Amino acid sequence: MKNIVLIGFMGTGKTTVGRLLANRLGRPFFDSDKKIEYEHNMNIREIFEVYGEIYFRQKERMIITRLSRYNNAVIATGGGVVLSPENMTNLKRNGVIITLTASVETILERTSRRHTRPLLDDLDQREKIVNKLLKERAELYHSADYNIDTSNKSLQQVINEIMFYLRQGGYLRGRR
Ligand code: S3P
Repeated sequence: MKNIVLIGFMGTGKTTVGRLLANRLGRPFFDSDKKIEYEHNMNIREIFEVYGEIYFRQKERMIITRLSRYNNAVIATGGGVVLSPENMTNLKRNGVIITLTASVETILERTSRRHTRPLLDDLDQREKIVNKLLKERAELYHSADYNIDTSNKSLQQVINEIMFYLRQGGYLRGRR
């Protein structure tokens, strides 16, 4: 079976939704950021600080190449995965791509809870940066097979909506 790949901006819920979806489907779950962190024994912030963003993107591409070879997995990606056409080609080859979206207010609210995103460090400029990045990436996120706005939905609602889409699209082969 194809992988189920979650893409989308920071704070749209990819990791949380992915983990629960995998659990519900009885499939293995992988998170590209977590894999990079594990392999470096450093968090994303530290990797950005020590090695810089270009290095991070290079590692991200390597991890995505590897994860794309899996079958039957649920894969959550970092928000910038769409910046590389190579990533998207790899992920699409054996995956159904689902974009999670959220309003700017929701993104700001969710990402302010934990300071783990180096791109959003400048507290005074956060809203401006989020708007700028969203604008730059909007088209890339919309190249998915399915888009779902998570702003005013419970986790369960989001999962149910994804399950409905997957079932309709024949991605679950009538199971669950
Ligand atoms: C990034 C998103 C982050 C992480 C890194 C860069 C981005 O992942 O990969 O900080 O460029 O949007 P999350 O979307 O899981 O926060």
